[in-house]
Amino acid sequence: MKVLVVGGGAREHALCWALAASPDCSTLWCAPGNAGIAEIAELQPIAAEDVEGLVAFCQEHRPDLVVIGPEAPLVAGLANRLTDLGLRVFGPSAEAAILEGSKGFMKDLCAKYNIPTARYGRFKDPVEAIAFARQLGGPVVVKADGLAAGKGVIICLNAEEAEAAIDATLRKGRFGTAGEEVVVEEFLEGEEVSFFALCDGRSALPMASAQDHKRVFDGDHGPNTGGMGAYSPAPIMTEDLGRRVMREIIEPTVAGMAAEGRPFRGVLFAGLMIEPDGTPKLLEHNVRFGDPECQVLMLRLETDLLKVLLAACEERLSDITLKWSPDAAIAVVMAAEGYPGAYESGTEIQKLEAAATVEGATLFHAGTRRAADGRLLAVGGRVLSVCATGSDLAQAQARAYEAVDRIDWPEGFCRRDIGWRALGRT
Ligand code: AMP
Ligand code: GLY
Repeated sequence: MKVLVVGGGAREHALCWALAASPDCSTLWCAPGNAGIAEIAELQPIAAEDVEGLVAFCQEHRPDLVVIGPEAPLVAGLANRLTDLGLRVFGPSAEAAILEGSKGFMKDLCAKYNIPTARYGRFKDPVEAIAFARQLGGPVVVKADGLAAGKGVIICLNAEEAEAAIDATLRKGRFGTAGEEVVVEEFLEGEEVSFFALCDGRSALPMASAQDHKRVFDGDHGPNTGGMGAYSPAPIMTEDLGRRVMREIIEPTVAGMAAEGRPFRGVLFAGLMIEPDGTPKLLEHNVRFGDPECQVLMLRLETDLLKVLLAACEERLSDITLKWSPDAAIAVVMAAEGYPGAYESGTEIQKLEAAATVEGATLFHAGTRRAADGRLLAVGGRVLSVCATGSDLAQAQARAYEAVDRIDWPEGFCRRDIGWRALGRT
């Protein structure tokens, strides 16, 4: 089978790595990919957001399966266009990707189908938004409705901060068109966990649990990022809680989307808050794999990923059983100094080969590129996911940091405490 993966991050490297291992995969393309993906797939220099370019490539090469990694092309309708060509596509249509593309849509779906989430209001008018924030009282969260590259969520400790956030979003246009409407919602306390379910429009199949570290610095300090590290399994997600999340959040979402005429096919990534009494509440839905959560899931998945994704495309997920390694997996993100703010591009990374020989270690690339002379350059904010498996999380963590310490990249940094919540529990 000929497979095309769309995207160029460590998430897509992990997907390519798992797909390349399938005996049914004869050709693997990745657009645009990165220097690490180039070692296992044929790169196509087409940006993930270039819908026309990707459609033209697919028309010519007719892949048997297209796997779309990031949210932007999904929200822009890439899956619709490729489905229209008669291709199998793993990833939701634009009508279903609106679950991530509009936070207001997601909240209204929750209200209509009784899915537990924070109390909220949707506003275009700043005066009404501010009045609602005051009425909620205490800390509130202000969210730009549309896609804002993970930056559109502002946590406000009091009414004054909420007013400033609403002003910046609705009056000053801080998030452009993504912020022409806001969701103002109640602040939820608890522990966050990522929940992934594969969906085929009708049924949903839960994946193994994973937890992310969104803040940039150790101890969960500093600004939010796309994710600085992840591990799987996440001990907070017990079997009972997993069943409850399926029953109260995932299944009503899949049924609700089908009832709305927007069947969801692809991976549903629910960002959950587990409240102190154990109640799971939905913070947000994403319509793609998390990055870096995908990396740790792929390291633990023992079932052939190509078979699984094909089943999701063909409404056959109910025939699939996923098998997971009992090992723990961890991903430590190495980013360019300055991320998530401004950072330097083009610095050299060395000694990845030495890092890769650490027992259990696997390196996934994100923002990397080969210079004409063969040197490996960092060309993004998040640059590498240094991953490892081990018989438990402590062993996986020790191996991942041993690999990190072998890498020679003075302009890079990482958190040193990935896994702390889970390790603190045991
Ligand atoms: P989102 O992009 O909606 O996941 O929001 C980014 C981050 O903001 C989440 O991962 C949470 O840490 C935090 N957040 C979002 N909504 C809430 C909420 N209602 N209560 C507490 N924290 C929230
Ligand atoms: N790691 C969180 C995300 O991919 O949005």
